[in-house]
Amino acid sequence: MVNRLKRMPLRFKEILKVIAAISSRKKAKVYLVGGVVRDLILGKIQFDLDIVVEGDAIAVAKALAKHCGVSFRRHHAFGTATVEFDKFKIDFATARRERYTHWGALPKVKPATLREDLFRRDFTINAMAVSLNKKDYGKLIDYYGGADDLKQKALRVLHPKSFLDDPTRILRAIRFEQRLKFKIEKQTFKWMKEAVLLDALQFVNPHRLRDEVILILKEPKPYRYIKRIKEAVGLDFLDKKVRLASQDLRLLLRIEKALSWYKSHFKKHRLIEDWVLYMAALIVRLPPKRIRYFLDRFGFKKGERIRLMSIKENIPQIKRLKRKLKPHKIHSILNPLSFESILFFYAYYRDKSIRASIGGFLSGSVNVRLKIKGDDLKRLGIQPQSIYSRIFEKVLFIKINKGLKSKNDELQQAQRIAKLLSKGV
Ligand code: CTP
Repeated sequence: MVNRLKRMPLRFKEILKVIAAISSRKKAKVYLVGGVVRDLILGKIQFDLDIVVEGDAIAVAKALAKHCGVSFRRHHAFGTATVEFDKFKIDFATARRERYTHWGALPKVKPATLREDLFRRDFTINAMAVSLNKKDYGKLIDYYGGADDLKQKALRVLHPKSFLDDPTRILRAIRFEQRLKFKIEKQTFKWMKEAVLLDALQFVNPHRLRDEVILILKEPKPYRYIKRIKEAVGLDFLDKKVRLASQDLRLLLRIEKALSWYKSHFKKHRLIEDWVLYMAALIVRLPPKRIRYFLDRFGFKKGERIRLMSIKENIPQIKRLKRKLKPHKIHSILNPLSFESILFFYAYYRDKSIRASIGGFLSGSVNVRLKIKGDDLKRLGIQPQSIYSRIFEKVLFIKINKGLKSKNDELQQAQRIAKLLSKGV
């Protein structure tokens, strides 16, 4: 492991050494834990580090933040702290034991040893640690056979009640299985199925479920993840009416294609939240009222709710693109929509005319901007100012349909339109 640590980016290595020095001064023991250890062994780089401290984690984190001159956030409820660097963060936690009073509840925690802390974790491959202490810096600590499971590509829980303690692990199991192309070990799969049959996911706070589902939808190409969830878990935990028939699964695949088409064809593409399109595919067949309830129950943020709802609401509107329309008409249908909606519809409709209209909009009219401003119209003596927005819209439509090259062309059109408007045309 020492060699693997050596291959980490220089900044990380320097910081780990500082942490080691601080904790030795504070007579605490520190360990790198969780996903970062798994990824170090797999040769992948993780940017966010998790550190467990046998001792006072908050004191170590605070001293590190002070040493590096960066900010520090303390989470009182959990006794943890985060040190934030500009491109990554380090989470510190005091080694702890957890006791679950009932399924899906947040656990009651007590300080404990590293061994106990690792035992409360989800899978053996996430339950390894690397010592950052002077005495054995870089030593892998693997009480539960995580390194072996990594070699065997097996996902194994540490004890039979793991999925009941924390049912979100059902979704995490599928996320890691699909991401790493591992297999959920046979006994683990049985325990997972038992938890599914007991409806364990229904006992989890919906906000935690939402976060887990979003994490899955943020993985590259989430189609196979969702397919696997449908087969192994079912989607009742989202909404009993989410069926995800084969045509809906195919929609997920078409969304994957639409997104990669967009990103590869349009070099200067907008920042798209891919997961929003996939989430829309999961719920789009529900009636609007039920979607609203779904968005409420899972506590989606305002901007997410608006985009997801508008996808549902605009489905009929987009059908208008089946007819041959002038570019400015297409523009006025698509321009008010979010890019997530537009790309969703590109995937949703296989109709050639709709797709061509969307393609044309993305490569053409979405980028058309007017050169003239309000001041230019004022200088021409156009009055009243309340008609400016109508003038701009009409000039923009002419520019989209016929192309206006210069600012002068735009000004001439603005004058002509102002005259017509003043005559009440
Ligand atoms: N963990 C757990 N049970 C959970 C969530 C997290 O035991 N329900 C533990 C695991 O040891 C995990 C660590 O907390 O490795 C950190 O959690 P998280 O950041 O969610 O997971 P990573 O393994 O880092 O996954 P990713 O690569 O997706 O960030």
